[in-house]
Amino acid sequence: MITQTKNTTQTAGPIQYFLLTENGIKGETASASFKLTVYQEGLIRVQVSREQSFAPNPYSVILNPQVTNFEFEETDEFLYLITKTVSVKIRRSNFSLTFLDKTGTVLSEDDPNFGISWQGTEVSSYKKLQQWEKFIGLGEKTGGLNRWGKAYTNWNTDHFAYGKNSDPLYISIPFYIGLHHERCYGMFFDNTHKTVFNFGASNNKYSYFSAEDGDMDYYFFHEKNVSDIITSYTSLTGKMEMPPMWALGFQQCRYSYYPDRDVLRLAETFRDKDIPADVIYLDIHYMENYKVFTFDGKNFPNPAALIKTLKDKGFRIVVILDPGIKVEAGYAPYLEGKAKDLYLKYPDGSDYEGHVWPGWCTFPDFTKPETRKWWAEKMAFYTDLGVDGFWTDMNEPACWGQHTPNLVEFDYEGQKATHRKGRNVYGMQMARSTQQGAKDLRDSLRPFVLTRSGFAGIQRTAAVWTGDNVANNDHMLLGIRLVNSLGLSGVSFAGYDIGGFEGNTPPPLYARWISIAAFAPLFRAHSMINSTGSEPWSFGEEVEEISRNYIKLRYKLLPLFYSAFYKSHLTGLPVSKSLAIDFPFDDNIYEKSYENQFLCCDSLLIIPVASFKEVTKGYLPEGSWYYFYTDKLYTGNQEVYVDCPLSYLPVFVKGGAILTLQDSIQHTGHLESGSLYIHVYKGSGITRFSHYEDAGDGMDFQDGAYFKREIVLNSDSNEVTVATSEGTLDSRYANLTLYFHGFEQNMANVDGKNISLEKQDVTYLKKISDFDPLPSDKHPFHTCKQVSFIHIKHSKEPVIIQLV
Ligand code: GLC
Repeated sequence: MITQTKNTTQTAGPIQYFLLTENGIKGETASASFKLTVYQEGLIRVQVSREQSFAPNPYSVILNPQVTNFEFEETDEFLYLITKTVSVKIRRSNFSLTFLDKTGTVLSEDDPNFGISWQGTEVSSYKKLQQWEKFIGLGEKTGGLNRWGKAYTNWNTDHFAYGKNSDPLYISIPFYIGLHHERCYGMFFDNTHKTVFNFGASNNKYSYFSAEDGDMDYYFFHEKNVSDIITSYTSLTGKMEMPPMWALGFQQCRYSYYPDRDVLRLAETFRDKDIPADVIYLDIHYMENYKVFTFDGKNFPNPAALIKTLKDKGFRIVVILDPGIKVEAGYAPYLEGKAKDLYLKYPDGSDYEGHVWPGWCTFPDFTKPETRKWWAEKMAFYTDLGVDGFWTDMNEPACWGQHTPNLVEFDYEGQKATHRKGRNVYGMQMARSTQQGAKDLRDSLRPFVLTRSGFAGIQRTAAVWTGDNVANNDHMLLGIRLVNSLGLSGVSFAGYDIGGFEGNTPPPLYARWISIAAFAPLFRAHSMINSTGSEPWSFGEEVEEISRNYIKLRYKLLPLFYSAFYKSHLTGLPVSKSLAIDFPFDDNIYEKSYENQFLCCDSLLIIPVASFKEVTKGYLPEGSWYYFYTDKLYTGNQEVYVDCPLSYLPVFVKGGAILTLQDSIQHTGHLESGSLYIHVYKGSGITRFSHYEDAGDGMDFQDGAYFKREIVLNSDSNEVTVATSEGTLDSRYANLTLYFHGFEQNMANVDGKNISLEKQDVTYLKKISDFDPLPSDKHPFHTCKQVSFIHIKHSKEPVIIQLV
């Protein structure tokens, strides 16, 4: 192999030889080995290394190559690898690659001169910028929806009170989706070193991705649409497990609630004030001197009794777990970990110590299987007390000074790696071990782990929140983009600290933030020590009413959310969807004014808006849209002005949508066998919704213990079919009430019988009379259209409702 001259760029050079393998092709160029592997028709892995062998990547990818037909062709100039979906053209003279679709259109194309090259140990892949190319995804990254013209670094970082454009943050997901010429592709760079993604920043020729060291090892995806790329990416890196139902409810946090009587008072206040909630968090003050696997005896003398009392009131406790273990003689967990040799180390074998909350600490090496097992077993300390959820924080890993020396060593599944390669997967492995503990120790109940740090594939083990945000409008809107970008990158269960972690939250900001967050997958309020609390009643009566209204709406919408989570668990598609998923080639959605808009549970279009705005401009993409509160119908492909006083967040329902709601409840354990309200909105053609129920926890659903049924709306023939149910469970809802929005008929034919439709004012929110600033002619409730409905008994049998 040719060696590199110091201070120059080395390219892969001409192909010296190649051979066909069972699922691709491998060979050598002048300076590197290469291998292309067909994983699926639309998924090709490219590996290039200057080492003797390709380094195994044990963390993100869980899929093996699938048996896939492909063809091979060669000419004097090129080698071709061809599947039904994509072909890769490899230039013999310098190993530059071009990916083409079936029509021969270029999807992605290496620079013809230096496709893959090295500067020192840094390896990069240079891709020609395509005309009008857009880039979306890359996980938890600040900036706009379209990442064109920007560059980002992946290096997990504890960034307290980060700015609107700060980079990097806590999580690295080296996966993005490229869009041009009505085509889309995905790119996942599986390298855990510090990586850089440049989408045409400071140059007009290339988008490229680089890693400080290691192999060029990437996966190229091509599918017919963005959804299918996300599904394919999550087949490769895994999908979210079905969370327990309680984790979809409202979650209240603070740094920190203590002593125990304050926690109890908090729980009672929720119930007394008729504000639904499911989860209370215990932040670092529950511990004795911040030492993990302890409870502070003075403030929490009897944690088991406290947790039991809370559970009886319908609250789950989630405790924070920080990785740093205090170096202290007599502290059993520290001594145990040391005796078992489980901590990150310096090359001389001594333990690495960093300063965090408890003082000087060692850090369990979560990239070592023995450490993960030990930690998972130690969690019995909590599960024995009845703790239900776990919050893995500071797992970048963070320590004061924020500069862990690069010579610190990680086990990296026996491969041994320095901090340069190990850091980015540390948090993900801590979450993995914590999830394992929660599974093993809780009798097959579903684990709930919330993590701050992670890497590609983190969706398999934990939900994610976006760290230490700030109490201002920009941050509120940024949080939405972060969550939507995580959703484009496989992480469905995500949220942000409602109200902002750092700083005092102005009351209107809290009201707006909680209204928006009611439509976020993770619905959690949190705030920092010495700042205003983030409880819904901390901001005066008006904000309390607005909060109650939107929290109650979230609980009413739980059947819809639960079905959406189940769909996400199966498909990897997010619950909170950037408009770039369904409307990738509509340029308007990338506009600064519209890039924060998202679809919640596929059919609710949320128009997030700053707290001080009273009227906003929104963009309705293709289709027809009903204003959620009044049923006013709009056609798509247009900008609209909507009133947005604090009490009404602009929300539209997609024509053709099928929404499922239930009565308002206090917490998810409070499941009344009442009615399931099915709202159908006339659109065009046939639309479908899969309603899903199960026990809300446990694993029996995997053996068929669920109730699932398809609801099909034919807007052209004005017919709704509630299909035969699947699964062994009965529905928890005794009755169905069907509401028809946008239909003119007054009668329904059900099982050959004509029934007149009744009429009712449907209001999703309670009127906040004393505070409502809108004049009565503009008020949603005064303009609310009457909606026709019928009741039917809910059974497992199919029903066809024909409007006549
Ligand atoms: C970190 C977390 C924050 C938590 C605090 C104290 O800053 O991001 O959510 O409250 O530590 O544990």
